[in-house]
Amino acid sequence: MAKKILIFFGAPGSGKGTQSDLLANKTKLTKITTGDLLRSEVAAGSVLGKKAKGYMQKGVLVPDSLIKDMILKRLESASKSGYIFDGYPRNLKQLEDLEEIFAKIVKKNDLVYGIEVAVSDSEVKRRLGGRRACVCGAVYHLKYNPPKKTGKCDVCGKKLFIRKDDKPKVISNRLKVYHNESEPVLDYFRKGGNLIKINGEQSIAKIHRDIMGKLKKLAIVK
Ligand code: AP5
Repeated sequence: MAKKILIFFGAPGSGKGTQSDLLANKTKLTKITTGDLLRSEVAAGSVLGKKAKGYMQKGVLVPDSLIKDMILKRLESASKSGYIFDGYPRNLKQLEDLEEIFAKIVKKNDLVYGIEVAVSDSEVKRRLGGRRACVCGAVYHLKYNPPKKTGKCDVCGKKLFIRKDDKPKVISNRLKVYHNESEPVLDYFRKGGNLIKINGEQSIAKIHRDIMGKLKKLAIVK
């Protein structure tokens, strides 16, 4: 059976985490979120976490070599049917690393598509201002996607928190990094004819339906 590899792109706060969660719940694909993997390492106080922390707090990218090792390790336990990448690759060097990895694991008939969740910078600022996160990886918004119980995660019941990088100055840095370093990666998929662009300025449910509709047409999901 052909492996399916879907790669979510979008500015910080575009909703790629929210949408990749919904898609992972509907498929047997393994979700690989570099931001969550890094936050777990930081929380665990590991060597990698200690190295990554300062970069994340400033809203700049963690060095590519650390990310590549983390991805290789995560792929070892990933589903054979495929993966959903959320937050990787984020610059041209990471794209090169991913191509090197794919040369070993992707076969001719496997399906590889990028999904761009497109939103404006002003919408990003609105969304990140109201975001609340949980250590388990679940994400909420005070207005657009509130938890059932105030301040508590629906999935695991733990206390929700505001991410340290959701401060206005850090958000501006993250947006700059996205436009300068991550957007060029989109061109690669666009030129290859395997980029699915979705209007991210709609409700969470409508965006999910749009993504499912496009993936059904490509026979990636049923
Ligand atoms: P990462 O965790 O990947 O952050 P990000 O890319 O900035 O993306 P976010 O998680 O902030 O947003 P999202 O698009 O997933 O949106 P979400 O669904 O949460 O990276 C953090 C840091 O780690 C980086 O700055 C970097 O330092 C490092 N890092 C990570 N990957 C790396 C890599 N590959 N290389 C190097 N460094 C790396 O939604 C946002 C909010 O909006 C939520 O509150 C949500 O509920 C709400 N929302 C979602 N959809 C909608 C909607 N349609 N309408 C209204 N509200 C919505």
